[in-house]
Amino acid sequence: MVGATLGSKLVQIGHEVKMGSRSANNEKAVEWAKNNGAHASYGTFADAAAFGEVVFNCTAGTVSLAALTLAGAGNIKGKVLVDVANPLDFSKGMPPTLSVCNSDSLGEQIQRAFPNVKVVKALNTMNCSVMVEPSLVPGEHDAFVCGNDPQAKAQAVEILKSFGWRSIIDLGDITAARGTEMLLPIWLRLWGLYQHNPFNFRIAR
Ligand SMILES: NC(=O)c1ccc[n+]([C@@H]2O[C@H](COP(=O)([O-])OP(=O)(O)OC[C@H]3O[C@@H](n4cnc5c(N)ncnc54)[C@H](OP(=O)(O)O)[C@@H]3O)[C@@H](O)[C@H]2O)c1
Repeated sequence: MVGATLGSKLVQIGHEVKMGSRSANNEKAVEWAKNNGAHASYGTFADAAAFGEVVFNCTAGTVSLAALTLAGAGNIKGKVLVDVANPLDFSKGMPPTLSVCNSDSLGEQIQRAFPNVKVVKALNTMNCSVMVEPSLVPGEHDAFVCGNDPQAKAQAVEILKSFGWRSIIDLGDITAARGTEMLLPIWLRLWGLYQHNPFNFRIAR
């Protein structure tokens, strides 16, 4: 869902997007590419990782390291990796728990596992419809970014701006992913309250 939403938006604003998957002919990826025109294509995680100048990790958080291993360290080396995933563990039912938290985060785990990749944690604190269309939520509200590489963060910020984001708060290095991932328990409660009405966090100062 997140990969398709982000991918469609990126195609709409002029990028070429390859949707990665565990299999080369994932049914949903084939359908997504069919619906998104000549600049949309599909392949394995490795194909997508090799293709992209910027790579988005839109995989389930508990398997993101496995998915990125399939993508291949060599294919993502040196690239900006926008990590949108949340480490939600649904194995004990609802609500999910965080599989990593407090003194570590998925963003950090990815950065440690792939030290040559420029991980930028972003967009994980809102529904995917809001990620690509912030005006769905009325008024001012915020997106967060964090990561160790300032240039990579600047590149991610430009992409967010092209989606329509006006307020983007830079939280610092990748350890700030602990905080943005730990927003998920409150986000899930709010989702229970508001259901399909888009909402987001706003920092008032
Ligand atoms: N839904 C939202 O609005 C939202 C908002 C913020 C953040 N997020 C986060 O964004 C991420 C994507 O969410 P989603 O709901 O679109 O998708 P999802 O169902 O959480 O994840 C689907 C992706 O995970 C891959 N995957 C599943 N099992 C795997 C395994 N064993 N090994 C490797 N890869 C595996 C799938 O690959 P295949 O294509 O091969 O099946 C697919 O690419 C999640 O981390 C979620 O927490 C979601």
